[in-house]
Amino acid sequence: MNQLHVLVAVSGGIAAYKACALVSSLSKKGYDVKVVMSDHAREFVSEINFAALSHNPVYTSEFNTPGDPIPHISLAKWADVLIVAPATANTIAKAVYGIGDNLMTSTFLACTCPKILCPAMNVHMYENPVTQANIARARELGWQIVEPEAGLLACQEEGKGRLPETEVMIEAIEKALNVKKPDQNIASLPLMQSEDLLLDELMDQDHPLAGKHVLVNAGPTCEPFDPVRFVTNHSSGKQGYAIAADARDWGAQVILVSGPVSLPEPEGIKTIHVTTACEMEKAIMDNEAWADFIIMAAAVADYRPKTVADQKMKKSDESMVVEFVKNPDILKQLGLGKRKDQVLCGFAMETQNLDQNARAKLEAKNCDLLIANNLTTSGAGFQSDTNVVSLLKKDSVEHLPKMSKEQLGFVILAQMVQLQKGAE
Ligand code: PMT
Repeated sequence: MNQLHVLVAVSGGIAAYKACALVSSLSKKGYDVKVVMSDHAREFVSEINFAALSHNPVYTSEFNTPGDPIPHISLAKWADVLIVAPATANTIAKAVYGIGDNLMTSTFLACTCPKILCPAMNVHMYENPVTQANIARARELGWQIVEPEAGLLACQEEGKGRLPETEVMIEAIEKALNVKKPDQNIASLPLMQSEDLLLDELMDQDHPLAGKHVLVNAGPTCEPFDPVRFVTNHSSGKQGYAIAADARDWGAQVILVSGPVSLPEPEGIKTIHVTTACEMEKAIMDNEAWADFIIMAAAVADYRPKTVADQKMKKSDESMVVEFVKNPDILKQLGLGKRKDQVLCGFAMETQNLDQNARAKLEAKNCDLLIANNLTTSGAGFQSDTNVVSLLKKDSVEHLPKMSKEQLGFVILAQMVQLQKGAE
């Protein structure tokens, strides 16, 4: 659903066989990979290899793609990142002078995603001033270049021209996709008091949440009482969106249920937009069975106007009375129906007696984890980029220092991993 799409373009050099390892590693890491090949590349490696390794059809010609009359456009639209590996001198020249004389080079022209070139060729071809000028031009045109490595080349000459190791190319891809490594996220976290945190273990993993389904909600709800007026709160959605992005960066599939906010649509996350608490309830309950981790960061209105007038209410009277009725308590429903293998995290927004009120909520709503923030603490709660929270579990409470909402997201997810392991 929210896999990132990597388009691997293979041009005709000896190193084409190394692109098999790249495609295989990308697939294993959970990326959706498609391969486009030039005719010369097919002289070195069969398209069957790439089809088997990528679990997708391989694209070779503009005129033989079943069901897709304009494959260079659909491939370009599909790709979140394009990597040309190996990029021969000939292909680099075509790329930088806009020559689209085959499916692969036409696709380059149509791609608007980040584009990476991995030159690989004989050392003299690589050092040739024409090739060097073309690589410089590629940089100017916005291509990222992964430099070839030096060593013994297939032609038995020594020098620069070898296609880099798979890990180096994947690092460039993940940089272009802005995929963060767990250690980059966690290394800067403020110290936690829990001794048994699994942070070390998580840091060693590439995608600690690979295979996990995470359901998050964010933002306020708006409860209308006539076609132009509604009751809402100050939630910006920043906290919930940060948690959703963290979960995605750690490799989870994520569904975000968002109230009305002005944040950009997050990449790689299925976002369901809702307005009212009742709509939010439906979106959450429709997806709760799918989720391993559920994090309720939204500021859901507790009450809604009993009736919604069809027409704008007139301001003829001196005062206006709007009767409110209770909204469904979504977190409570989730707590009641929680499976043993699910981990549920609620939030609490308080203005006094933070820990006592938060503990009462943790128990009443059968949460495994509760994150409590106090509206009166500077740098906490609504709108800010930071939060200051107490983290409550059934038998403990920790008072965390001020941290970014993104950092708090990783702390919450790490705690949820730990809680799920403990429940196994
Ligand atoms: O969006 P930001 O500007 O980044 O601000 C973040 C935040 C302050 C909104 C967030 O950190 C936060 O505290 N969210 C919960 C706010 C809230 O509604 O707290 P509460 O104590 O009223 O609710 C307790 C829990 O029950 C929450 O998980 C809430 O999502 C849930 N709830 C509440 C009411 C309701 N009808 N259904 C619910 O599920």
